[in-house]
Amino acid sequence: MSQRKILVTNALPFANGPIHLGHLLGYIQADIWVRFQRMLGNKVAYVCADDTHGTAIMLSAEKANVTPEELIARVNQEHARDFADFHVDFDIYYTTHSDENRELASMIYGRLKDADKIAQRSISQLYDPEKEMFLSDRFIKGECPKCGAADQYGDNCESCSSTYAATDLKNPYSTISGARPVKKDSTHFFFKLPEFTDMLKEWTRSGVLAPQVANKLSEWLDSGLQEWDISRDAPYFGFEIPGETGKYFYVWLDAPIGYMASFKKLCETRDDLEFGDYWNKESDTQLYHFIGKDIINFHALFWPAMLETAGFKKPDLISVNGFLTVNGQKMSKSRGTFIMAETYLNYLNPEYLRYYFAAKLGNTPEDLDMNLEDFAQRVNSDVVGKVVNIASRCAGFINKNFDGHLGSTLEVPELIIEFQKAGSEISALFENREFSKAIRLIMTLADKANQYIAEQQPWVLAKENPQDERVQAICSTGLNLFCILIVYLKPVLPVIAEKVEAFLQVDPLSWNDSQSLLTEHEIARFEPLMTRIEVSKIEEMVDASKESLVTEEQTEAKTSSASSPLGKDPISEEIEFPDFAKVDLRIVKILHAEHVDGADKLLKLTLSLGLDDSGEELTRSVFSGIKAAYTPEKLIGMNTVMVANLKPRQMKFGLSEGMILASGEGNKVFLLEPHDGAEPGTRVT
Ligand code: MSP
Ligand code: ZN
Repeated sequence: MSQRKILVTNALPFANGPIHLGHLLGYIQADIWVRFQRMLGNKVAYVCADDTHGTAIMLSAEKANVTPEELIARVNQEHARDFADFHVDFDIYYTTHSDENRELASMIYGRLKDADKIAQRSISQLYDPEKEMFLSDRFIKGECPKCGAADQYGDNCESCSSTYAATDLKNPYSTISGARPVKKDSTHFFFKLPEFTDMLKEWTRSGVLAPQVANKLSEWLDSGLQEWDISRDAPYFGFEIPGETGKYFYVWLDAPIGYMASFKKLCETRDDLEFGDYWNKESDTQLYHFIGKDIINFHALFWPAMLETAGFKKPDLISVNGFLTVNGQKMSKSRGTFIMAETYLNYLNPEYLRYYFAAKLGNTPEDLDMNLEDFAQRVNSDVVGKVVNIASRCAGFINKNFDGHLGSTLEVPELIIEFQKAGSEISALFENREFSKAIRLIMTLADKANQYIAEQQPWVLAKENPQDERVQAICSTGLNLFCILIVYLKPVLPVIAEKVEAFLQVDPLSWNDSQSLLTEHEIARFEPLMTRIEVSKIEEMVDASKESLVTEEQTEAKTSSASSPLGKDPISEEIEFPDFAKVDLRIVKILHAEHVDGADKLLKLTLSLGLDDSGEELTRSVFSGIKAAYTPEKLIGMNTVMVANLKPRQMKFGLSEGMILASGEGNKVFLLEPHDGAEPGTRVT
């Protein structure tokens, strides 16, 4: 097979906060894939950088009393160190605040302009007259125009969850200066994204994206794209737009160009890499982006449209990871589950995390939960208990009884062949980023190797005759099986693999080495490869994360629900059956439904729970926030499920005697409906 040439990028982390375990998910995922490709002999350039521009970084620097340049230089070192510590093996970790990026951004913008894809018009925005800057929604707070709750952000109310424009807030104030914002006009530049709708509809379905991601994009594509505002007014930390004064590129314009800029910088130091080979329209190299699910619009809509217009190649694949939750919930500072990379490393081995992520990662943008108990248990039982165990059971005999020599004959050829044959399936799974399936297969093999050794009991034979040739044959077989497993695990566990290479005295293992065997070969003394996770260390790490002083920006862990387009709530903490049994769920028939005067979201429902003992119809009144999704006509006569023993609640509009079950929110609410034949009043168990 000919050698593939691939440029792999990871999302560029913002330069105003430390790397945490949530970030690491996507970086470890990409790193595993890159290491796997390199083991196959493919040529991979793997680049990343800090995303350094924007208002947030400008303000963080101000708060810290340093220049933005000083701030981003410090953070760059910290980020690069954290990634290196987790063995994320970038060829370059650069910055978007570079000459290369400035030049490329200007050049690409020039090409967009020449192609008549840039519009210019005046817009009116809220402006902080004290701080003398325009305010985006996140820097404006005020009272909710709907419910009056205080201190709500400029785009939605956390209290009543209505959405609105920042200009609708009552008594608005700037969170930067406290001043009352005023409306002010200024000229902005827009990228004419709607003109790319047809191209994007086709491109997003061309196999570059997981179907779930393409579906999400279709929602946007079908409801009509908007022109994209790519300029910001001074003061702003970024690149000034060529030919304009006081106008800057919006951070998201130059951020993805940062991929190109980093690669360009890398080319300077590497004779074997040519910029054009990887970015020209006709190039036969591959471009892979690894990103999280919250930034797909930037990568799969704006970015390909920009690349196409500027005459560059579009990505061949965008791999999208879901969000990390810890113990079933969004990472939280108060629970100590908002864990920084640095904090983790003070307590635990980075390969534990690499293994755990690999064991749970698939190629869909689903959220991934890291249950800390499961984490310890999984790593201990798989890596230590299954894999490392094979070597520690066999090595001692070879080292002591046979002077470090592997025998000339191996046993169970069919088992060895099974191990070798599995390589192509495991390879396909790694290629396709189905790491959890690959790991499952590898662990099934590890079980078989352990079973073989347990059955042969070399320790029993060795007791009778330490020099018994069979002992040597069994242990040599065991170590060969072990070596094959290490080949397969090397993308995930590079440090263990390196230790094994030293122990077995072999050259750095490549993927093909699973097909060769070690006989009449001298090995070195066996050193412990990995110790078990001690639960006390996890507890200490969680405690330390509670204490660590995190700044406001850093606590903004992106959550899996609200902000995420592919959002799925994480599974909540486990409960005992009796807890569940307390909830009395009943099938009910909706007898009546009506609008409620003065309520924006509620419908009043009359529910039937069937007939009571005296033959009377048992009914309940329930107010339900489903008006955006259902008309009363649609509901009447329908069966659904209610929580029948919920304490009645006095609401503004009357007493609500329970709750009906539905998923989603707003106009995407879906009532649960039992299968035909379910009788009103029957309990749901
Ligand atoms: N700077 C932008 C990316 C620009 S790419 C041209 C950005 N930075 S970020 O620091 O907020 O996020 C960096 C990466 O980490 C993104 O891929 C993001 O999706 C991912 N994650 C951030 N928090 C995460 C979790 N809690 N879980 C999983 N991934 C997370 O976005
Ligand atoms: Zn409100």
